[in-house]
This record gives sequence, C-alpha cells and structure tokens, in this order.
Amino acid sequence: MAGRKKKPDRSQATARATPEPRATSARSAPPAHQRGPAAADVRQTLAHLAEVERLAQIGSWEWDIVNDVVTWSAELYRMLGVAEELDATFATVLELVHPEDRVRLRETIDRAYHDHGSYMCEHRMVRRSDGAVRSIQSRGEVLCDKHGQPIRIVGTAQDVTERKQVQDALAQYVALIVGSEDAIVTKTLNGTILSWNPGAERLYGYAAEEIEGHPISVLFPPDRHDEWRAVIDRVGRGDHVEHLETVRLRRDGSRVDVSLSISPVKDGQGNVIGATSIARDLSERRRAAEALALSEAQLRGFAARLRSARESERSHIAREIHDELGQALTALKMDLFSLKQSVPEPLRHPLRRKTDQMAGLIDQMVDKVRTLATELRPAVLDSLGLSAAVEWAVRQFAERTGIECTLDLPPQPVRIDSERSTDVFRILQEALTNVVRHARASRVDVHLRATPEELVLEVHDNGRGIRDREIDDPQAFGLVGMRERVLPWGGEVGVGTAPQGGTSVTVCIPLGGGRPGSVG
Ligand SMILES: Nc1ncnc2c1ncn2[C@@H]1O[C@H](COP(=O)(O)OP(=O)(O)OP(=O)(O)O)[C@@H](O)[C@H]1O
Ligand SMILES: [Mg+2]
Repeated sequence: MAGRKKKPDRSQATARATPEPRATSARSAPPAHQRGPAAADVRQTLAHLAEVERLAQIGSWEWDIVNDVVTWSAELYRMLGVAEELDATFATVLELVHPEDRVRLRETIDRAYHDHGSYMCEHRMVRRSDGAVRSIQSRGEVLCDKHGQPIRIVGTAQDVTERKQVQDALAQYVALIVGSEDAIVTKTLNGTILSWNPGAERLYGYAAEEIEGHPISVLFPPDRHDEWRAVIDRVGRGDHVEHLETVRLRRDGSRVDVSLSISPVKDGQGNVIGATSIARDLSERRRAAEALALSEAQLRGFAARLRSARESERSHIAREIHDELGQALTALKMDLFSLKQSVPEPLRHPLRRKTDQMAGLIDQMVDKVRTLATELRPAVLDSLGLSAAVEWAVRQFAERTGIECTLDLPPQPVRIDSERSTDVFRILQEALTNVVRHARASRVDVHLRATPEELVLEVHDNGRGIRDREIDDPQAFGLVGMRERVLPWGGEVGVGTAPQGGTSVTVCIPLGGGRPGSVG
C-alpha cells in the first residue's frame, strides 16, 4: 500500500498533484471568529448530522485528492476506534482495511476515480481500539473540477457487521431447510402456504411454485379437516405441537403417514403470524417396525416350538429309559435270583457273594435310571400335576443342597394344561438353580398361588441380591428364557431384590377368566 508520499499505481495522477499532506481532525464546528446567525445555523446542522450518523451507525468522509487529506466525521472515528488526532491520508485509511480486502477496495476506488463515477464496496476493517474485525459497507463518489479532473471523493461507511452475521446465519438456516430430508412448510395463520422446501416436494409430490399461495388444506384427507383448526389454535397461542402422527394426501391422491412437529412463527413484536411444520414420512419406519415385529414373532414362535419339541423329546426319552431300561433291569434281577436258586446247594455258597454284589449293582442301576428319567421330565408333572411337581422339586432341592426351604401351596392342587405347567415348572427349576449358583443363600421360600384368573409363583432367597445390570443383561439367557416362556400366555416375570434382601422371582400367568379346571 502506498505511503503518504509514495503514491499508488493507478492513482499516479492524484499522487503527482498531491502536495505535502497535512493532519486533519473530525469535521469541526466553525472557528470562534466566525460568529453570527449563519455560523449558528451551520453548527446546528453539523450537530444534527452527527446525531443522525450516530443513530444510523453511518460515518462520512471526504478525501481531498489533491492534498491527500482525508476528513472523517466523528461517527467514523468512533466506528473504527481511532483517536481523532489521526493523521488521515488515503494510505493511513487503507492501513485500517483488513489485509485480505485491501487490494479489492483499492481497485474499486481506482476504477471509480478513472470513470469519474461512484462505487459501493463491502469489506472488512480492523477496529484500531480493540482489533475487532468489522464488516463495513463503503460508498463513494468522485467529484471533479471544472476541467473534469477528479479533485475529491466523498463517501459514507456503514458498520454492517451485525446485519452480515444475521445474513450468514440466515444463509445457513436456508441451506438447512433446503438440504433437509424432512418436508418443511411455512404457512400463515389462515393456512396459506408461504414456503415449501425440496423435502416437501419429495414427500407430497407438489412443486413449490404450484403450491405456494394455496391453502394447506389440499394436503388434508376429508376425515382430517378439523385437525388444522385444533393445531392452529395451539400454535396461535405460541405452543409447539410435537410428533403429531397423522395422515396427509399426496398430489396423486395417495395417503401418507407422517409425524408432524409444528412451531409458531413470530414477528418482531412476538406476535404469532404463522406456523412452520416439519413432516417426516412414517411409512418407511412403520414398514421397518412391522417387519421387525414379524421377525421377532417368528423367532419367538420358533423358540417356543423348540422348547416344546425338547419337552416332548425329553418325555419320550424319560419314558423309554424308565420303561425299557427299568423293565430290563428288573427282569435281569429276577433272572439272577432264579439262577441262584437253580445252582446246586454245595456250589451256592461260593457264588453267594458274587450274586449279592450283582443284585446290589442292579438295584443301584434301577435307582440311577429312575433319577435320570425324572430329571429329564418328572413323571409327577404329567401324572399328579403342577402342585405335586413343585413340591417334589423343592424337596429334591433342599435334600441336594442342604438349603432350608419353605413351601406354600394352595389348598387345592393346581391343575392347568400341560404346556403351562411345564413352563412354570421349568422357571422354578431355573430360579432354584440360580440360587445355588449365584445367591449364597441359606434359605429359600417358594409360594404357589392360583385363582381362577391367574397363577403366581414366587421364589425368594436370602442371598446377596441381584443388580439391575445383571437383570437387564441380554446375555442372561436363564432370565431371558423365563420371560420368553410366559410371553405366549400373556404373563410376566419380575426379577428384583426383595425388600428384606436377597433375590425374588415372581411369575404371573393369566388363566383366562376362570376357565373350568384352572384350579382343581
Ligand atoms: N438368585 C440370584 N441371586 C443372585 N444373583 C442372581 C440370582 N439369579 C441370577 N443372578 C444373577 O443374574 C445373572 C443372570 O442369571 P441367568 O440365569 O440369566 O444366567 P446364569 O445363571 O449366569 O447362566 P444360565 O444362562 O446358565 O442360566 C447371573 O449370572 C447372576 O449374576
Ligand atoms: Mg441361570
């Protein structure tokens, strides 16, 4: 940038004509020796001008090209944070311009100088007092002498920083609306569409130019015409309507499920003058949710089929083991006995120890076979029902583990269908297994209650208790399995820490309106 004496390229003519520059100050009132009514008028006008400039945040300036003296208004000094003693030349003014904008401003002024015209340029300046970068809109006009030679440029400078910030924010906002996947529509309070973004074009099929200015009601199916009144009443009061799931009509007449969020649009005084709605197409989400629900149901059905197949397989194996193996072993024992009888007396004695051992072994095997069959599927469940099976399981558990157990059964034996009995019984087995494996308990209380409406099984232990994250762990297949077992019956399983400490498992299965035989 040109210094005070070294003049810039395109303004050489000015530079050559410019004598030694001199310092200036803000445009001042007439000197003291100029008194009188005219001077008073000038003073008043200048004061008025300064006030107007201050209010409008517009500074004015004048560049005497011949003498290279720039005169500023007081507002301009204030705007740029410069002391009024600034020795203002064109070069010192350019130094205040943001380095990246200097060449552009310089070229703009040069062009106006050569064309003897005017210019307008938006550029940044660095405020001297605090280094803040401000956006300035500069305007200037070149004035010439009677020979057509430019002698002065007069102009204004307006601080437009805030306006530019708003414009930038607005541009971002517009980019957001235009780029949004959602349909964004603005309308007046009486429903006239004011703006319609590309998302709305995609969702509803109308182009912006064909629908802007039309009533929003074209999107409403006949059965939803009242909806707008209700919504606009709320929005008119300044409320927001969130996630309103409803139906709209596309251009081709097809219906589309949407989720709407509607917000009021306010004027500068805070009055609601319209509404902006954001609509999201729900069809895709609905389809995905339905597909997910379907596949979950299929998986559940499949798991239930697996469980029931496993149960019948177990029953079958248990029966086979019990009947076939049990009968064969009994036959073997009888054969052994008759063999012993048929051996001549002198030989019988030496064989006695051997045959007794064999008979003992057969007895043990019979016991083992029974236990095995019962563990696979306790016959008592099929023959005597759930109450007897629960009693058997709790007794077995107490004997095997040494943990003290109490059992509270309904006065009448519970008789429900085999599938439900099996599920409740298996849940009890899992709950008792968990007590041994995790609880470190010394006592377990089991309650079974049945009314015509529901069956409830509770298992409380006095162990270490269970944490929420253990209950919610998706890998806790024992607990997940309990819940899965009762789901097809519309039942529930609650697992938690019991009030008196320890863990409690509560199973609740509806029995369906006092079906006969639910409590036998
Ligand atoms: N009665 C209980 N007392 C304390 N903690 C328990 C009790 N029952 C379950 N838990 C905790 O909850 C977890 C989940 O139990 P869950 O039955 O689902 O799984 P698991 O017993 O570890 O394994 P499995 O899948 O073989 O049953 C257990 O690992 C244990 O930490
Ligand atoms: Mg378990």
